[in-house]
Amino acid sequence: MQPREIRPQVYWVGAIDWDRRLFDALIPLPDGTSYNSYLIKGSEKTALIDTVDPTMQDVLINHLNQLGVDNIDYVVANHAEQDHSGAIPQVLEKYPQAKVIATPKCKGMLIDLLMIPEGKFITVNDKETISLGDRTLEFIYAPWVHWPETMLTYLREDKILFPCDFFGSHLATTDLYVTDEGQAYEAAKRYYAEIMMPFRTNIQKNLEKIKDYVIDIIAPSHGPMYDRPEFILKAYHSWAFDEPKNIVVLPYISMHGSTRKMVEYLVGALTQRGVTVKKFDLTVTDIGKLAMALVDTATVVIGTPTVLDECPETQTEVCFYYRFLRLGRQDCGTTRRDDSKS
Ligand code: FEO
Repeated sequence: MQPREIRPQVYWVGAIDWDRRLFDALIPLPDGTSYNSYLIKGSEKTALIDTVDPTMQDVLINHLNQLGVDNIDYVVANHAEQDHSGAIPQVLEKYPQAKVIATPKCKGMLIDLLMIPEGKFITVNDKETISLGDRTLEFIYAPWVHWPETMLTYLREDKILFPCDFFGSHLATTDLYVTDEGQAYEAAKRYYAEIMMPFRTNIQKNLEKIKDYVIDIIAPSHGPMYDRPEFILKAYHSWAFDEPKNIVVLPYISMHGSTRKMVEYLVGALTQRGVTVKKFDLTVTDIGKLAMALVDTATVVIGTPTVLDECPETQTEVCFYYRFLRLGRQDCGTTRRDDSKS
């Protein structure tokens, strides 16, 4: 694979992970993923925006070699999670003069996680800029998308937003930009459901924060870029702000068919009343599909038998996921409207 030019002197230099099937030992990746890193060669300084997962650091270094990059001045760390920061130590080893640009919180995390020496950092404030000569990087604090230290980087002259995980999708593809909006919508919604939905209030604030920026390209650090940014901005706005729909999500387990019969009765009764039902047998369900269903639903009904007076483990996990993804501190059975009060 070669580096890809996005704009003059702006390149994609990331890695595509076609075969990864699990993220954070938790999230299924049916379509693989990518770790997008971007190189900006300004007239005076060169910056690298995020790196790649440490398992693919050689791919990044190879891309930099192919471009003949003999100097990097800044490595921008929008996010400390290792799928984007994990190759920073190798980049610093190859380009020892480079400084890492990060929020103060991200600096602390990178020191703890990767043992990067403190003297390697330049910390930036919200909306602070750094000049590359003919190009300007603006750093926009965007906490909790999806860790507390996250920020976005905006390349002013080219109107490119580098938001790291925000707007991303786990999708391995050679397409630099979204070509199939249906597929991209599905992958981005799945990503939002699994990664961003627990921080919905923060997502709303961060969407508000960037609404006045003129953006020609959104270049996330997972999945293809958006050269029609309104597509993903509109989708995020809908997922984060819309009222829930009259949909019932019904995850269940049945040992000998009794719970299934009750579930099927309920599905029929609700359907007759015009309610959309999404039913998930948890012994075969893709947890990502269940997470996606939770984005829009107003009601969740969990069907389960008991074992020694307890829910089976899978159901307990679903209660955990539900509380984690949708309600945070609320108990199962609480409606989404309570989410806004939490
Ligand atoms: Fe793609 Fe939060 O890491």
